Amino acid sequence: MKIGILTISDRGARGEYEDRSGPLLVKILSEQTPWRIVEQAIIPDDFDAIANTLIAWSKAGVHLILTSGGTGFAPRDITPEATLSVIDRETPGIPETLRAESLKITRHAMLSRAVAGIRGQTLIINLPGSPKAVRENLDVLLPILPHALELITESPDSEQGHRTV
Ligand code: MTE
Repeated sequence: MKIGILTISDRGARGEYEDRSGPLLVKILSEQTPWRIVEQAIIPDDFDAIANTLIAWSKAGVHLILTSGGTGFAPRDITPEATLSVIDRETPGIPETLRAESLKITRHAMLSRAVAGIRGQTLIINLPGSPKAVRENLDVLLPILPHALELITESPDSEQGHRTV
């Protein structure tokens, strides 16, 4: 599986602060999964920049894109809208569960507007920006990712899957 890690932050993209969430995502995924990180970038909170990067990485065959940042209520937080503009199908169970589990840790979890969805054979998942939130969300996400990616990359005529009859 090929993974892309996209940090979305105006200040990070300008080099005004060090991105710790992107490298943390790379570290955890490298240590805990057999997958390859093939793309990593820091871009500003700009609708077109986000949408174009997601489209390009999906076209390049990335199976999972994890974004970090830009999911809150600040005027420039536009990650969910840019993500929704490029996906074919929403996967609401993922953000619903991430928020539900995060609420057990902090009430601030309700301030994340993160979404997730599928574009072609790419699963795109928004995560909040702080390293703490990234770690907490990944704890919830990692166990289901292998099966999620297996389903997304399954060929349409496959006999496998979830049929019970
Ligand atoms: N989720 C978890 N698990 N842990 C956190 O610390 N922080 C919240 C929320 N989700 C948080 C979390 C906060 S403070 C905000 S403002 C929102 O995510 C949005 O973060 P973002 O704007 O950096 O994307």
